[in-house]
Amino acid sequence: MDLRQHIRGVPDFPKPGILFYDISTLLRHGPAWHEAVARMAEAIRPHAPTMLAGIESRGFLLAAPLALQLGLGFVMLRKRGKLPGATIGLDYALEYGTDRIEIQADAVRPGERVVILDDLLATGGTMAAGIELLRKAGAEVPAAAALIELTFLKGRERLDVPCEVLVSYDS
Ligand code: PRP
Ligand code: MG
Repeated sequence: MDLRQHIRGVPDFPKPGILFYDISTLLRHGPAWHEAVARMAEAIRPHAPTMLAGIESRGFLLAAPLALQLGLGFVMLRKRGKLPGATIGLDYALEYGTDRIEIQADAVRPGERVVILDDLLATGGTMAAGIELLRKAGAEVPAAAALIELTFLKGRERLDVPCEVLVSYDS
């Protein structure tokens, strides 16, 4: 199955000149969504995770079914102010301004092997911040994974771990 056929490119979203790769069409298609999760599980398995992490919000769509598929727990990396109890946060730069992601302070045990998931690797800023935050919380991060990589943005160069992806776009 060609997963690419289930991902829709929406021109001029969210800004003129940007081609947005929309996974809504993949999510809506039962067999394609199932296939994407199954393939991602096999890509992640060799990294021997003991837990998964997903980045709010679209990363949750992958982290939850993959955790079930692999028989693992998963942890939410959320945007600021959403998580109750003690948290650890990390501020990171965006194109304009900054953002912050947080994790519950007791979410991972020291040395836990956590593979981090997001739907899309673009500039890599979000994934790099997620990896740094997991390490701050005491995790080892053997790998990252995303459904889609925009290779022309070279996000992979910002990561110091391998990143498993299922579909790449070079423009
Ligand atoms: C998008 C996407 C990734 C991130 C990739 O999330 O889901 O998380 O941007 O961009 P980067 O590699 O340049 O950092 P967005 O902030 O749009 O939020 P959402 O997941 O809540 O829709
Ligand atoms: Mg996102």
